[in-house]
Amino acid sequence: MGDSRRLDSIKAAHRSERKKSSSRTEDYLEVISELVELKGYATTLDISRYMHVSAPSVTKMLQRLDEGGYLEYEKYHGIKLTARGSSVAESVRQRHGILLEFLEMIGVGYRAANRDAEGIEHHLDPTTLAQLRKFITFLRANPKIAESFRNL
Ligand code: CO
Repeated sequence: MGDSRRLDSIKAAHRSERKKSSSRTEDYLEVISELVELKGYATTLDISRYMHVSAPSVTKMLQRLDEGGYLEYEKYHGIKLTARGSSVAESVRQRHGILLEFLEMIGVGYRAANRDAEGIEHHLDPTTLAQLRKFITFLRANPKIAESFRNL
């Protein structure tokens, strides 16, 4: 007999649709902030390309994000992240960066590491994130340990 803790935690993780919708919000804000950084602005078309969704769905989501106070959206005047939107985007980008570095450190290739980071980034407990950060700092300070691990 196994113990039911794993089942309980699966149940907790799937408790509601909220997690899914907050992941989507985070991904939109992440993409928008990457686009703004790269080219100074983000268009509906750009977003639809990077999110793999139709332009009308993007428009609908942008309206929702506007109502939530994450950005200012005017149909023909573009998209601007508010302070609230920027801080969410910044936090996702940080989580993504830490995960990417961690996965590459343990020998995962860049492509797979990025793909996995994209999924995991929404589901990290702050404690997990802090420990990952600590682990990365530790390995950076002890390159011989990192190297001997990679040579396993
Ligand atoms: Co993501």
